[in-house]
Amino acid sequence: MGARFTGWGIALPDRIVTNDELSKTLSTSDAWIQERTGIKERRIGGTVTSLGAIAGRAAIDDAGVNASDIDFLVLATSAADRITPATSAMVAHEIGLSCPAMDVNAACSGFMYAVRTAQGLLETGNKRVLVVGSEHLSRFVDWNDRNMAVLLADGAGATVLEYDPTENDILSFSLGVEGADAELLTCEHEGYFRMDGAEVFRRAVRVVVESSEKAMAMAGITSDELSLIIPHQANIRIIQAVCQRLNIEMDRAVVSLDRYGNTSSASIPLAFDDARKNDRIHKGDYALLTGFGAGMTWASAVVQWSK
Ligand code: ACO
Repeated sequence: MGARFTGWGIALPDRIVTNDELSKTLSTSDAWIQERTGIKERRIGGTVTSLGAIAGRAAIDDAGVNASDIDFLVLATSAADRITPATSAMVAHEIGLSCPAMDVNAACSGFMYAVRTAQGLLETGNKRVLVVGSEHLSRFVDWNDRNMAVLLADGAGATVLEYDPTENDILSFSLGVEGADAELLTCEHEGYFRMDGAEVFRRAVRVVVESSEKAMAMAGITSDELSLIIPHQANIRIIQAVCQRLNIEMDRAVVSLDRYGNTSSASIPLAFDDARKNDRIHKGDYALLTGFGAGMTWASAVVQWSK
């Protein structure tokens, strides 16, 4: 059976926060942030519900269907608006969905975990699943902590995944979690994100490379055949290290973190949107979508665009 991406949408807060603005209150600089992360500015604002609803509605419109055509909503977030109810309930309400809805939390791998979940839901009889990655990470940022404050940001991205008996976009998936590494990146209830950045960096490169190699082997392709890699947008140096190890030139990597920072489960659909607006998505092309995050989780997929 096939699963096709038939629509995409994004949402970004209006408020742009530049590195210079952060440097006014933190012991940091535009030069340090750009050199060590690649980030120039980020968007701050909204809620998981408001951003997720805008992105979800845009994806439904882009797919050319109505809210009533959606059979399931899977919302990926690591910054749920409330512990309960699940934020997907509010997003479903705002969009006007009447289908089941649930949250998935796999940190920055969340969007890919949600796509994998949606693929399974299509296999069990659903026709269209709306997958949303939405984050309001700024709410859990200690604005006195320069380690995290320069990295995390808000935003949302969404896709409609549709059952298709004849065509299939998702050729392979490789996902995993290593709970022994859970303490490397945490956010307690009513707390802030805390991270051992250097260790996360090292392990991220390793798990992204390993899962990408597995996904490519399962799809029966080599990295030479990839038109694009659409990676989680955490740090330009992680993307460079991954590309170097996979023999992918940087001009095949989609980079949007310079403008959006790290938006966790929203970062891959935001990067996809960037690639599409720049005419980098073409029918028949292979792309590698790969993410990693707290947990530590990882998820890589090889896709071949059918539209
Ligand atoms: N400005 C200036 N100096 C800083 C800043 C800053 N914003 N942040 C850290 N530093 C300092 C540190 O305090 C340290 O100073 P010290 O040597 O006096 O102790 C120095 O810079 C070097 O620190 P490192 O941690 O070694 O810096 P590094 O080059 O590794 O960059 C960074 C830090 C950007 C956090 C990097 O390690 C990284 O990107 N790690 C991965 C983060 C990530 O991918 N997270 C993804 C998951 S996010 C999620 O799941 C929500």
